[in-house]
Amino acid sequence: MSRALYIGLISGTSMDGIDCALVDLGSGLSVLDYLCHPLDATLRTTLLWLCGNQGLDLVTLGNADIAVAQSFAAAVNALLARQHLSPDAIIAIGSHGQTLWHEPPKRAREHAFTLQIGDPSTIAALTGITTVADFRRKDLAYGGQGAPIVPALHRELFSASGTITIVLNLGGIANITVLPPPGGQPFGFDTGPANVLMDGWIAHQRGLPYDESGHWAQSGTVQPRLLRQLLREPYLSQSAPKSTGRELFNLNWLQGHLAAYGETIAAADVQATLLDYTAVTVRDAVLRYAQQGRLIVCGGGARNSALLARLAQHLHGFTLSTSTDHGLHADAVEAAAFAWFASKTLQRTAIDFSPFTGAKRPVIAGGVYFKEASA
Ligand SMILES: Nc1ncnc2c1ncn2[C@@H]1O[C@H](COP(=O)(O)OP(=O)(O)O)[C@@H](O)[C@H]1O
Ligand SMILES: [Mg+2]
Repeated sequence: MSRALYIGLISGTSMDGIDCALVDLGSGLSVLDYLCHPLDATLRTTLLWLCGNQGLDLVTLGNADIAVAQSFAAAVNALLARQHLSPDAIIAIGSHGQTLWHEPPKRAREHAFTLQIGDPSTIAALTGITTVADFRRKDLAYGGQGAPIVPALHRELFSASGTITIVLNLGGIANITVLPPPGGQPFGFDTGPANVLMDGWIAHQRGLPYDESGHWAQSGTVQPRLLRQLLREPYLSQSAPKSTGRELFNLNWLQGHLAAYGETIAAADVQATLLDYTAVTVRDAVLRYAQQGRLIVCGGGARNSALLARLAQHLHGFTLSTSTDHGLHADAVEAAAFAWFASKTLQRTAIDFSPFTGAKRPVIAGGVYFKEASA
């Protein structure tokens, strides 16, 4: 079987870097290489400011759209150089872009929308590779949440099993994909925060980007009353389909809760409580559908050993593994999904996101920005 090479790109809610995966779709799906390209610190600050939606200005937005695209293209070019590949070797790039705002039907004040930036024309121009982008909005146009959509790849790769399989992505936000044994209908949704609050708190308190292996959280003690208070968040009891993001779960949200709590809590105890908040919200979501089965974890949170240990305690009926154990690098799953989506767009094949997003129908997602003929 000949190779069919694609590149997938995403910078997620965490803004920890640009995930870039080289994917061969010639026979099944294999990730041949993966890198996480750094996101420039100034650009990250700008993006976080834009996500805060405070006094937005259009020139900053327009500049960020191009700067994100330039960084995405630099990630691709670094990967090509490392692999000694020419742009012509790649059929297409699938680029998710950077989400600035996600306002799905359940949250919409007026019109539901989702906003990703990272100009695909610029990516195509700077890489010389046809670029497919804007994968979420068609689903929204058909009444879906536009998220989570990566579960479509989880379904493709992890369905064939006699037992119930739950794929858990621990990015900024956590989402689960429930894959019943053959014959059952898969579904999935965002359970709530994964890393976004822990990242925000450690950045605020200690100037660090994330809590390595959850060590800081482990040094603190879970505060049950605070945990109960956080668990009253209305999003958690909403029925699926549902999706969420930084618009809801952010440092302001946390600080509001800490102020309402009434007593001062040691910073490490807050972190311990946030780690348990992620684990408990995932547990509650999972146990609604199954008491036992396989739990396959992916995303950056798969490196947080304290979080995985807590999940294992909360979900003792499940066999825990990471997608890396199943041959798919846990950091590369999302990027690989966008490579796979790009191939579907070029084939004009619809993808059925509807069990995860609630859309009325499968859709041909994304727009194509063709490369120019060689000069
Ligand atoms: N060694 C680690 N220890 C603890 N947490 C980690 C580690 N490596 C990554 N993470 C967490 O994973 C996050 C990135 O995960 P990722 O799947 O890229 O999320 P997103 O899709 O939101 O960008 C980081 O922000 C951090 O919170
Ligand atoms: Mg990331």
